This record gives sequence, C-alpha cells and structure tokens, in this order.
Amino acid sequence: MKVIIRKNSAEGSLWTAHYIAAKINEKAAKSDKPFVIGLCTGSTPIETYAELIRMVKAGEVSFKNVISFNMDEYVGLPVEHPESYHSFMHKYLFDHIDEPAENIHILDGNAPDLGAECEAYEKAIAAAGGFDLFLGGIGEDGHIAFNEPFSSLESRTRVVTLTRDTREVNARFFDGDWEKVPAQAMSVGVATVLSAKEVIIIAWGSKKARALKDAIEGPMSHYCTVSGLQAHPAGTIVCDEQAVGELKVNSYRYFKAIEAAESGK
Ligand code: GLP
Repeated sequence: MKVIIRKNSAEGSLWTAHYIAAKINEKAAKSDKPFVIGLCTGSTPIETYAELIRMVKAGEVSFKNVISFNMDEYVGLPVEHPESYHSFMHKYLFDHIDEPAENIHILDGNAPDLGAECEAYEKAIAAAGGFDLFLGGIGEDGHIAFNEPFSSLESRTRVVTLTRDTREVNARFFDGDWEKVPAQAMSVGVATVLSAKEVIIIAWGSKKARALKDAIEGPMSHYCTVSGLQAHPAGTIVCDEQAVGELKVNSYRYFKAIEAAESGK
C-alpha cells in the first residue's frame, strides 16, 4: 500500500485528478480498449471531479472512451431526488465532461428486482473488461462504498442495510434528519472494488483519521472494510495531513520517505 500525503484536500485532489487523467491518456495512447473506472460520491471527490472537468474542457484528457461504474446508490430514492447518487454524479461530473451517456453506469435503486440488478451490474463490469482503476472515498467508520463494518471482504454487489451511524453522518444531506436517509442501499462489494487493477482511496480531514489508522496500521478486518486494501497489489490512499493525524509518527515518516525516494526528491 502507498500513502500519498498532501497539505490539504485541494492539493490531494489535484494529485488525484492528474493521476487519473494520466492513466486514461496512457491507455488511450497504446490501445483502443476503453478505460474502465469505478467512481464514488460524497463530499470527498468533488474537488477531484472539478479538476477533471477543467482538464476535459482544456483538452488535456477525454472521457469519450471511458466506461464508468458508480459504487453505490440508495434504495427507493427517486432518481431525480437531489441527494440520489444519480443526481450527484450528473451535477458534479457527467453533465460537464464528454463521457457518452451509454458508458455511464449507476445502480438502479428503484429496480423491480434489486437482486437481479446487482447481478447484472457485476456482469456488466466483467463484460466491460473489469476495472482499470477504482476511485473510492471512505466513511468515518472505514466503510468503502456502502460496505459497513462487518461486511465480508469477499462481498460483491448487493443490497445492504445502512448503520444508524452512517445514516446520522449522511443526515446533513437530508435536512439533518437521519430517519429521512434511506435505510438501505445497493453497493458494489469489497471484492468488487479490489478486483480493479488499481485502487485509489481519497480521504480528507480529521474526521477520517480513525478510519485511516485502522485501514493502514490495523489488521485486515471486516471491522474496517477499507483495510481490505492491504491485500491489493496496487492500492494507494491519497489524503491530507489532518486525515493521517492518528498514524504513528514512524508510519507517517515511512510513507513520506517512500514517496520522496520514488519521486527523486
Ligand atoms: C457515503 C458513501 C461512500 C462515501 C462516504 C463518505 O457513505 N456511500 O461511498 O465514501 O459517504 O462521504 P464523504 O466523502 O462526504 O465524507
């Protein structure tokens, strides 16, 4: 695992957007095959998406041959609801870039058969060739996508029940009322995320510090589902100084030294 530590979310977001754009351009230069990416919602990726939009508009990257799959969606929330992840993604990314509409995949939380929708999603990911890169955020309890504590690290796309903690954290988007936050969601599994060739997890602020400590220094455990990243051959956490506030000083120094050595600084 690599940990890239930046001064603040603005610098971490720039690093992340430029890294993703470079990966898309690198594949486009040597192959006609689409670049398949997993995407997340939440406040964390907004600045990264803003920089990707700027880069598309400046001609520095194109999403014309990118296929995306979002990691999760609430169950039962109308697609047009401002807090649906469909609305979020269009507002903060898809409405401003050149990704063809047919390449955009988001789980349908209103599908008549939710189980069949989840199975079809896994099949569509496989049919697209699997993920080149998965971009994820994390919850304050270390959940990835909506894989709450004690979700299997072998899990795949399915319907999940949200914890009271997660509903309370997300109540800020629902008039501050946790009971308005849907009780269920559909989510790619931990194993779905880890099936990607490369996984980038972004985290900003001290409220993510405990989750990052568990993910980086703790044992790999279903208690903190993002800790599954420890078993991935190409996992990177991009974070700011506040988010690593709970790491041991020596762990912090280790990741800083590795990055400096690899970038020749
Ligand atoms: C929700 C989403 C996660 C996201 C998390 C963090 O629980 N299902 O995918 O990573 O929120 O949100 P934020 O980025 O707003 O802290």
